[in-house]
Amino acid sequence: MGSTIQVVGVVGGGQMGSGIAQLALTAGLDAILVDSDPDALSRAITSINDSITRLITKGSLSQSLGSDALRRLRCTLNLEDLQSADVIIEAIVESEVVKTKLFSELDKIAKDSAILASNTSSISITRLASATSRPCQVIGMHFMNPPPIMKLVEIVRGADTSDAVFATVKTLAERFGKTVICSQDYPGFIVNRILMPMINEAFFALYTGVATKEDIDTGMKLGTNHPMGPLQLADFIGLDVCLSIMKVLHAGLGDSKYRPCPLLVQYVDAGRLGRKRGIGVYSYNRAPEKAKPSPRL
Ligand SMILES: NC(=O)c1ccc[n+]([C@@H]2O[C@H](COP(=O)([O-])OP(=O)(O)OC[C@H]3O[C@@H](n4cnc5c(N)ncnc54)[C@H](O)[C@@H]3O)[C@@H](O)[C@H]2O)c1
Repeated sequence: MGSTIQVVGVVGGGQMGSGIAQLALTAGLDAILVDSDPDALSRAITSINDSITRLITKGSLSQSLGSDALRRLRCTLNLEDLQSADVIIEAIVESEVVKTKLFSELDKIAKDSAILASNTSSISITRLASATSRPCQVIGMHFMNPPPIMKLVEIVRGADTSDAVFATVKTLAERFGKTVICSQDYPGFIVNRILMPMINEAFFALYTGVATKEDIDTGMKLGTNHPMGPLQLADFIGLDVCLSIMKVLHAGLGDSKYRPCPLLVQYVDAGRLGRKRGIGVYSYNRAPEKAKPSPRL
């Protein structure tokens, strides 16, 4: 199965999906990028173009491979166009209800041999797999943000994921130049199980007046050698994504230590979703994109 992957479908052309499609293209594969929002697709095309141009300018990608990569990208609003994909990587909004519906639709559209992967940060792969007739071909493929830069892919095995599908997806991630770690299917997997409670605690420190946002971030940067402070990182990830993950940890692990900080909830309610909206914990100097209501878990 591994050597036969030539066409990678990606659903969701936001910050993660556009980066994943780019990885497929620069690895010499064909990419079909689907989004329900035409503006998101336009932004994804611009972002992939700019990023590939930068790679060519830096000498990290040859001119011929770069131009060829862009020719192998197809963007569409229509899920049915994923019929030819060998693997489909879902990177839509972090909502179990919305993702489950999508997996059930993809199961009907995708060819029988296709693998259905999710880039979810925290949602159960086993439950997404249960919405399909092919649970052994469903797997978590959790890229870090931004996918072209970050070296890690966390592969999550659902209860029924087959060894062959795991091996195929591991080979694909390695073809993208990534190091793979493997997690069992428990809320938050490895990285977010540890990272998100730290970010949430940084919000509690801000909420309870322990320190300013700048001092919290500087403390963690210089005091623990993190490249970004936790509040800066939350803005970078998206506060809506952080809140969704905390809700999954809270519901799935049942411990009150995972309850989302009220300040994080309030920022999301106010549409302060982080860098992508021009405002989160910090303000960014650009016009905010039009805010959309964020689906809840
Ligand atoms: N942001 C991060 O740092 C990060 C890191 C790792 C994983 N993830 C996960 O990746 C996924 C996407 O996150 P993101 O930050 O790219 O979000 P985003 O908001 O930037 O992009 C989501 C895209 O999905 C599209 N979309 C929503 N519902 C759709 C549907 N039903 N069909 C087709 N398109 C649909 C939206 O139009 C949007 O363009 C989430 O599951 C998130 O948890 C995010």
